Amino acid sequence: MPGCGGDVAAGVALVVIAAAYGGPEVLSIVDEPVSGPGPGEARIAVRAAGVNPVDVKSYSGAFGADPARLPIRLGAEAAGVVTAVGPDTVGPAGPVSVGDEVIAYRAPGAYAAELVVPAQAVVPKPGTLDWPQAAGLMLTGVTAWHLLAATDVGPGDTVLVHGGSGGVGLMAVQLAVIRGARVVATASPARHELLKDLGAIPVAYGPGLADRAAVAAPGGVDVALDLVGTDEAWDVSMALVSDKARIATIVAFGRGLKAGIKVLGGAPGADPGTEIRERARLELARLAQDGKLRVLVSQTFPLAEAAAAHHAILDGHTTGKITLIP
Ligand SMILES: NC(=O)c1ccc[n+]([C@@H]2O[C@H](COP(=O)([O-])OP(=O)(O)OC[C@H]3O[C@@H](n4cnc5c(N)ncnc54)[C@H](OP(=O)(O)O)[C@@H]3O)[C@@H](O)[C@H]2O)c1
Repeated sequence: MPGCGGDVAAGVALVVIAAAYGGPEVLSIVDEPVSGPGPGEARIAVRAAGVNPVDVKSYSGAFGADPARLPIRLGAEAAGVVTAVGPDTVGPAGPVSVGDEVIAYRAPGAYAAELVVPAQAVVPKPGTLDWPQAAGLMLTGVTAWHLLAATDVGPGDTVLVHGGSGGVGLMAVQLAVIRGARVVATASPARHELLKDLGAIPVAYGPGLADRAAVAAPGGVDVALDLVGTDEAWDVSMALVSDKARIATIVAFGRGLKAGIKVLGGAPGADPGTEIRERARLELARLAQDGKLRVLVSQTFPLAEAAAAHHAILDGHTTGKITLIP
């Protein structure tokens, strides 16, 4: 078949599922069939999968608890090697071929040893990143890209990032610096040196944040990005930024929509930014390839220990990314 390659036979692969709604104890690892790739699809041997808070929310009940959705496959992003392709397999960067080292995003069910995804989800893996870093680049990267695009961050702006040391936060900090902005980022003191290394002015969150942020930004704050959804982040953003169109949240959906700030993501009424996020993937890969964008992975876990990875992310103090290794 023209354009096909590799072993396209169906098989089975280990995948992580939530068999019920609840905490990480409902996760298990099971064999599931993997189809041969159809037209426009690629099969990938996964080397690492990114872990994100939304993965936990998918089975915690945060998005409802419809029994018809069970069992739920987990994950959204992975990096690996293409093992088979169907016909007409062209991705955003060109043809996808067997043996390519790639990042797959969006890749539903990415907590897996093998995965079939549309070629449109596949971009070349930057050679500068190892597998866990590559697996952790995209979800947080496109979200941060969308935040900065939606609030129109550019040279001369001062940006306050709430939650600057998390997965999205470290991306937002670096991308805002690349855009020429001055960046003030909140984090616990143990992460302040890291934020300084990335070009931000760190401030501790907690009581007195508005005063500390004002001292760090004597010329005022033009843009606030809420990546944590706390009352504090909300109050300080509202107090320091006069133009509501330059306050964005990816967490506080309900009150963000009521207040008329930018509300970004997949929730009802929010701006999903689909095209912006899709286009951002190649830009993010290029910046990583050029050594201008770092992916900080703080912990890796074997795929079979996805529950432990979820306990770690539920702790709420992840620095950068957690990834799973099949
Ligand atoms: N809407 C969307 O499109 C979208 C996309 C991606 C993520 N999200 C959501 O955005 C949130 C962040 O995602 P993520 O991947 O960055 O999570 P993450 O990596 O788990 O973020 C953890 C960070 O939050 C910081 N933090 C904890 N408590 C804080 C507080 N009270 N004030 C300020 N910072 C605090 C921690 O800082 P310290 O360790 O320094 O304490 C840690 O660095 C999650 O709720 C996620 O579901 C939404």
